Amino acid sequence: MHHSLRFITTSLFVAMMALTLVACSSDDDAGGGDSSATTRQSKIAALTGDQTAGKAKYEMNCGGCHKVDGTGNTGPNIISGAIAELSVEAVAAVIINGKGTMPAYGSMTDQEIANTVAYVKGQLAGK
Ligand code: HEC
Repeated sequence: MHHSLRFITTSLFVAMMALTLVACSSDDDAGGGDSSATTRQSKIAALTGDQTAGKAKYEMNCGGCHKVDGTGNTGPNIISGAIAELSVEAVAAVIINGKGTMPAYGSMTDQEIANTVAYVKGQLAGK
């Protein structure tokens, strides 16, 4: 009698832990990982970027490597050739994740990234 009660209590405890783990892992899926990186860049692409705010971010974070005019320094030219044809989502993904020796700028807010991409693809590219 005593034993079976303990068994039931233990089983309940294990079941509750399992439920908690399931709940926690679905929280994690919403907050991080590769699938949410896709969500983040598409969310950014849906925002309207402010080119004036983006210019300041670009000159502060990107201009050293890509040159203030975008024609490239240690980083490639980003206003002509194939790179200039990248989608807003693709550029946002590079900013979020970095690429090669380019550092990640994922700590910028979605709006700041949208602003930076708008500037790069707009005024900086002469559009
Ligand atoms: C420390 C130097 C450095 C900084 C700072 C930097 N980049 Fe880069 N960037 C690079 C290098 C190097 C590459 C080439 C990466 C590769 O192809 O391996 C690159 C590639 C890119 C590409 C092309 C990606 C592709 O798929 O070919 C874009 C667009 C870009 N950078 C935009 C930016 C923007 C916007 C910022 C500022 C938020 C920035 N970069 C900051 C060095 C830098």
